[in-house]
Amino acid sequence: MEILVYPDARTASASAAGRMADVVRQKPCAVLGLATGSTPLTLYHHLVAMHRTGGLDFSGVTTFNLDEYVGLAPEHPASYRYFMEENLFSLVNIDRSRTHIPRGDCPGDGVPAACEAYEREIREAGGIDIQLLGIGGDGHIGFNEPSSSLASRTRIKTLTEHTRQANARFFSSMDEVPRHVVTMGIGTILEAREILLLAFGEGKADAVARMVEGPVTANVPASILQMHPVVKVVIDEAAASKLERLAYYKAVHQHKPVWQRWDIPPMGS
Ligand code: PGA
Repeated sequence: MEILVYPDARTASASAAGRMADVVRQKPCAVLGLATGSTPLTLYHHLVAMHRTGGLDFSGVTTFNLDEYVGLAPEHPASYRYFMEENLFSLVNIDRSRTHIPRGDCPGDGVPAACEAYEREIREAGGIDIQLLGIGGDGHIGFNEPSSSLASRTRIKTLTEHTRQANARFFSSMDEVPRHVVTMGIGTILEAREILLLAFGEGKADAVARMVEGPVTANVPASILQMHPVVKVVIDEAAASKLERLAYYKAVHQHKPVWQRWDIPPMGS
């Protein structure tokens, strides 16, 4: 894992956006794995700015989002389709037919078939080039809650009360927060060629430490990323505050040869 610690979420997001933009520039038909929530918002603002002022071109890009709530129509303001429209898709030149979000609104017995179709679509697109991830305070990635199979594929999951409470801010009451979601599996996420995980704030410090320095366990789903060969963990000082080897990670970064560095903020960000 490459651990990059920035003074604040703003500079960390700019750097991570630069990496995503590089992938798109190098491969105009790149397949991006996208995430929702508070964490990637500033990164999306940077991508939009790079599109507007730097000509970053999304016309050939394909996207697959990690997850969606079961039972919410795409027009629902708390749905992840709505989030992506608001924060990225409607603001760049992406072809909507190449944007994919798991289906949360099909009838219950249609969900397994929709999950299989999602896996197939990822394969047919050639696999995900770079997968953006946040991390839950309980160590989840996507909506793979603790105890999720580390080999899981896209499927329906039941949210923990911890996650429902964390996400209640997007709904008018706790009762409205769905209990079920459709999420890419951990096995699905691990097949991405590169992982870019963002975490900001003290509330994520414990999960980050367990992901990076704890044992690999289904109890902390993000810990399986230790088994992935290309993971960039982009965090602020607060989220890094419980890492035991923080000084070492900083030294690794500081002494990295220039030709190995990807984290130079791009022009126009
Ligand atoms: P957040 O969610 O970005 O809103 O903190 C991250 C997650 O739950 O994966």
